[in-house]
Amino acid sequence: MIRTKVRKAVFPAAGLGTRFLPATKSIPKEMLALVDKPIIQYGVEEAIAAGCEDIIVITGRGKDCIEDHFDKSYELEALLEARGKMDLLEMTRQVSSLARIISVRQKESLGLGHAILVARDLIGDEPFAVILPDDVIDAEVPCLKQMIDVYDKVQGSVLATQEVEGPSISSYGVLDCTPLAEDPRILEVKNMVEKPTMEDAPSKNAIIGRYILTPKIFDILERIKPGAGGELQLTDGIKGLLQYERVYGYKFEGKRHDAGDKFGMLKATVEFALKREDLGPSFREYLKTLSL
Ligand code: UTP
Repeated sequence: MIRTKVRKAVFPAAGLGTRFLPATKSIPKEMLALVDKPIIQYGVEEAIAAGCEDIIVITGRGKDCIEDHFDKSYELEALLEARGKMDLLEMTRQVSSLARIISVRQKESLGLGHAILVARDLIGDEPFAVILPDDVIDAEVPCLKQMIDVYDKVQGSVLATQEVEGPSISSYGVLDCTPLAEDPRILEVKNMVEKPTMEDAPSKNAIIGRYILTPKIFDILERIKPGAGGELQLTDGIKGLLQYERVYGYKFEGKRHDAGDKFGMLKATVEFALKREDLGPSFREYLKTLSL
């Protein structure tokens, strides 16, 4: 039987981050700062605000600083205290007390599907969330909270989707789906196509980096064969899931930024900085002085 409560969130962070080279040569992409916070922290805060208790980070070689970021830093705290920097001390302490962080290594980057499979023993037999840390979502109600509310209603896997216009649809997994009569933001998935051409895309509904999955996905990921790029694809796993269970898309409310991409990160930085009470007004004035 499926436990109904989503308590655990998986953060796959073992990828190579090649789109952000050379910055990601020795710094994990997940630790790049959006204004003043590593991008993974936005996702962790979102998961906690959605009620998740365990944060499971899938890491790899050279990713130890992700664990360090969420750990207590005695030396730094002592130094800030000695210097009377109480605001910064509070901020530093707050990061390490956010949640229970568990990390597990994916020894080789064998794909997103494989990264999820690595978390199997830590998840067990219950539904769980997946957050791709480079998708940073700015929303009034945290995106994962919206999705957990949908999961509670439909009791099936839920994939976050957004409408993508034009040829850029071919960078995404795209849903072949029908909206539910009682809530057209919820889409019943019939099939999905990975990176279709614009002509072949079955809809404009692209899958983005938030998922709620039932534990059945593990059985399927165990037995699927590597797909595109020799990697175990999560989308192939979800396609397999469709043979056993209903799967839903959800058009969340909010704005998604692809902070794993240089241009996406630049746009997110401008928008997040403009919204900040401390930085926004002076940043706006500065932008006005630029002759564009
Ligand atoms: P991406 O393809 O966006 O990340 O994978 P990447 O491979 O790190 O980046 P690029 O494309 O080379 O720039 C989506 C998410 O899945 C994780 C990544 O860390 C990222 O958060 N991932 C991917 C893994 O954890 N393991 C893998 O084997 C592959």
